Amino acid sequence: MKMTKEKISDEAQSRENPDPHEKNRPIPVMVLVVVSALLIWAIFYILLTHSNDDPTLGDNRSMADLMPKSGNANAAPVDGAQIYMAQCVACHQATGAGLAGVFPPLADSEWVLAKETVPINIVLHGVNGQLTVKGTTYNGAMPSFKDKLNDAEITAVLNYVRSNFGNNAPKLIPDAVKKVRADSEERSQPWNGDDELTKIKE
Ligand code: HEC
Repeated sequence: MKMTKEKISDEAQSRENPDPHEKNRPIPVMVLVVVSALLIWAIFYILLTHSNDDPTLGDNRSMADLMPKSGNANAAPVDGAQIYMAQCVACHQATGAGLAGVFPPLADSEWVLAKETVPINIVLHGVNGQLTVKGTTYNGAMPSFKDKLNDAEITAVLNYVRSNFGNNAPKLIPDAVKKVRADSEERSQPWNGDDELTKIKE
C-alpha cells in the first residue's frame, strides 16, 4: 500500500507528544491574603495618618515657627553674652574697650550708661557722623540691628553690656525695647552722632 506524503506526516505527528506548556500555578491563597491585607492597611494608613494633624505643622514648619517667640514664658532664655560675641565683639572688642580712634568703648561710656532709651535707640538704628565718647570724637558707622535682633535679644545684649566691662547700670525693664521700637518706627536712617543723640539723651 502506497502512502502519500501527507499521510506519513500525519501519522508521525500523531505519535509526537504535544508541546510541553507550563501548568496553571495559581498564587497561593496565603500570599494573596497577606498582600491584600498589606494593601488595605497601606491605604488606610495613608488616609488616616494626616486626618487629624494641622497641615501647617510637621515638615511644613518654618524657622520662624520654631524660634522662641519673645514674650512667651516658655521660650528659651536669650543669652546676652552670646549675642555680644556674635554681633558686637568684632568692633567693640571682648573687653568692651573698643579700638582706639576707630570703635568707641562701651566700658564706662556715657551712652551705654544713659537712660535706657538711648542705648536701645543706638542699637536699633545705628549711628554715624561725629560721636563723642568719653571725651574722644569718633566718626565711624555703627550698623542698625533693628532687623537683625528681636526685642528679647536687644534687651539681653544691652543688659550684658550695661552690667559688664565695669558698667553697672540698671537692667532694662521688659518691653522697653518694644516701646522704643514702636516709637521710632518711622526712622530709616542711623542717628547722626552727637547732633541727634544729645537731644534724646536729655
Ligand atoms: C561694624 C562695627 C560695629 C558693630 C558690629 C557694633 N558697633 Fe556699636 N559702634 C560702632 C561705631 C563705629 C560706633 C560710633 C559711631 C560713630 O562714630 O558715629 C558705635 C557706637 C556704639 C554705641 C554708642 C557709643 C559708645 O561707645 O557707647 C553703643 C552703645 C554701641 N555702639 C553698642 C553696640 C552694640 C550693643 C553692638 C552689638 C549689638 C554694637 N554696638 C555693634 C561700631 C560697631
